[in-house]
Amino acid sequence: MWKPQNPFAGISQEELCSEQFARKEDEKDALSKLRNEFIIPTKADLKNKRYGLAPRVKDEGPNGTQASQDSEQSVYLCGNSLGLQPRRTREYIQKYLDTWASKGVYGHFKNLQDGLPPWLHIDDAIKEQAAKVVGALPSEVVVMETLTANLHLLMSSFYRPTKDRYKIIIEGKAFPSDHYAALSQLAHHNVPPSALITITPPPPDSPYLSTENILSIISQHAATTALVLLPGIQFYSGQYFDINLITHHCHLHGITIGWDLAHAVGNVPLKLHDWNVDFAAWCNYKYMNGGPGVIGGLFVHENHGKVEVAIPDEGPEGLADRKGSKESEEQLVYRPRLSGWWGSGKESRFRMDNVFAPIPGASGWQLSNPSALDMTSVMASLDVFSLTTMEKLREKSLRLTAYLEARLLQSPEEKLPYRIITPSNPSERGAQLSVLLDPGLLDSVMEILEEEGVVVDERRPDVIRVAPAPLYNSYLDVNKFVKVFQEACRVAIERVKAKGEQNGEAA
Ligand SMILES: Cc1ncc(COP(=O)(O)O)c(C=O)c1O
Repeated sequence: MWKPQNPFAGISQEELCSEQFARKEDEKDALSKLRNEFIIPTKADLKNKRYGLAPRVKDEGPNGTQASQDSEQSVYLCGNSLGLQPRRTREYIQKYLDTWASKGVYGHFKNLQDGLPPWLHIDDAIKEQAAKVVGALPSEVVVMETLTANLHLLMSSFYRPTKDRYKIIIEGKAFPSDHYAALSQLAHHNVPPSALITITPPPPDSPYLSTENILSIISQHAATTALVLLPGIQFYSGQYFDINLITHHCHLHGITIGWDLAHAVGNVPLKLHDWNVDFAAWCNYKYMNGGPGVIGGLFVHENHGKVEVAIPDEGPEGLADRKGSKESEEQLVYRPRLSGWWGSGKESRFRMDNVFAPIPGASGWQLSNPSALDMTSVMASLDVFSLTTMEKLREKSLRLTAYLEARLLQSPEEKLPYRIITPSNPSERGAQLSVLLDPGLLDSVMEILEEEGVVVDERRPDVIRVAPAPLYNSYLDVNKFVKVFQEACRVAIERVKAKGEQNGEAA
């Protein structure tokens, strides 16, 4: 497997760990100006008990030191959970509010000067940009619903169990929502839960799933498997799976494969069309920065999104369960789905004639008219992505995460009180590194990080996830994080020792 070179090999420990080194890296970074597209919370913002931004400190005054420290920007490394707010989101949402206030229902239809697209067409307006982020044709993507709901909608089309092929394969440590979704799809089709095959690594407590292991489990169950559902990037370990190779392997065995791209979208460049992925779904609130719980997105390969007029000779058996419900002389043939009016052709939507004629492509999977508020927020996020390309972001991300890794592996102590569980091969990971702490340290470490205005997230009992997002994180952020984190570990170890002594144990 291809493994990029360590970009920091040969640099002395002293130089690598200096603030000056981080500063120079930021100066060289062609994407550094994109940070200004985001609101970076200050330490005071994070501590403020009221909602909203804390007042910015201009004059230091007598208590200036603490106040100016609090007005420092925080170190936000949590884009794997919730991305930061783009500055333009507020402006776009204000436009949405003004349009609604001043135009009411006309906001659906009217093209307004300096306005956002009419709400009726907002889904089409953002297709092209969304498609670029995931490497798809615009017709293959649609921004709609939320991730788990979309996985269900897609499985309702793509999981069609038969007597011979009925199993669903997922990974053993799948995000719980995916596990529940797959299990409930089996139940929905009266297939026993034992048909859920979970891929676990040898040994089972290892966070790493080798490609060989994944392929061999798929091969083992190939004859009886209807669907494989995997994450592009694993939420816990940060492992980036070989989507192209695994998809190809499934297709060789006649198996349909879908991908949960929650942690991959906006993080790594994807080529869903070229990789022949059958379907995929994602959320827009992590690396996409669309806002908490905002509307998600889905992909259906053009091979599966076709809507064709049936050839009469094909006869009812040939069409089997592919039949549409159009009751006109023209019989439409398309992949079955759970349908709603928004998936039906725009020209027919307001005819109210109960003839479902799906829009060709992913849009034909829509159910309801989408929240224009959500779409506006996603539009702001996509406009930030349009200022660069996924390839350029990845180039920065590889270097920034390699810097984080190199810094974490340089220890001020003799022995590191943690280890990185994300693969060390950069082509097997995105921005995130997951760090497994020695037992008993997590609570103290998280408390100190929060106090110092450093935001990462935890996965109990002992893991923290650290994700430098290339759109807004800097080398100085990483430098600051590592310093605060290693000091936090030192204090946490002291506390554990002190507690042990208090309990009469040998320290
Ligand atoms: C990998 C993965 N899958 C599914 C979900 C569930 O997403 P939603 O609540 O948007 O359905 C998440 C949420 O964080 C996730 O990380």
